[in-house]
Amino acid sequence: MDAVVTFRQVGRDYRTAGGAVLRALREVSGEVPPGRIVAITGRSGSGKSTLLHLAAGIDAPTSGEVFLLGRSLAALPDRERTRLRRDHVGLVFQFFHLLPHLSVEENVLVPALVAGDPLPVAAARARELLARVGLAGRARDAVQKLSGGEMQRVALCRALLRRPRLLLADEPTGNLDEESGEAVMDLLLGLARGEGSAVLFVTHSRELAARADEAWTLHSGVREP
Ligand SMILES: Nc1ncnc2c1ncn2[C@@H]1O[C@H](COP(=O)(O)OP(=O)(O)OP(=O)(O)O)[C@@H](O)[C@H]1O
Ligand SMILES: [Mg+2]
Repeated sequence: MDAVVTFRQVGRDYRTAGGAVLRALREVSGEVPPGRIVAITGRSGSGKSTLLHLAAGIDAPTSGEVFLLGRSLAALPDRERTRLRRDHVGLVFQFFHLLPHLSVEENVLVPALVAGDPLPVAAARARELLARVGLAGRARDAVQKLSGGEMQRVALCRALLRRPRLLLADEPTGNLDEESGEAVMDLLLGLARGEGSAVLFVTHSRELAARADEAWTLHSGVREP
């Protein structure tokens, strides 16, 4: 079976305002097979977020190629790339990116609304996920009333709503205290393993990285062999 995501000698250069070339990633290769959980570690500025953006097709490499479910992202028209992401990739960010004026359940349902999924089925799935993360009783609350850990659990439900083959999480516990961060990670890894979603998550924590099936380390844009 195809890897969920494959990086083939991927480079990403940025041009700074001063005109210099900043090489955020250099010839990074790797693949994430279905259901596998991979941690990405490395210092600040080493290219971790850039790599996740490439996997999601939100950003494009300057050299090399990224394949999502066996399809070269660069070869796809924008609309198909967007659809591939929408149908198969879930995203969790450090700062949650929830819609503050919507309820918990509405936030979880956003991907289904965007995709035009039948609402009753999506709503049942949303309720099931909220129950799994212990938030069934908060479904109608405004999301801005929640704690950070609770908000991240909502974001996790939103990311998993459409059963993505790949869950991308950029420092999902970076804005949480240790205890709620651990609770979020337990849920993230437990749900992903239960549903067979592959995961690529960025973390600064050795303990969290050790819970993955494998860890990739970046140094100034280069993947450690
Ligand atoms: N849009 C951009 N324009 C210019 N430079 C960028 C851009 N995005 C990222 N960079 C640079 O690329 C390098 C890698 O950035 P990236 O955000 O991937 O690092 P990171 O490993 O996620 O760091 P952190 O742990 O601080 O989040 C950094 O030097 C950053 O300044
Ligand atoms: Mg980052």
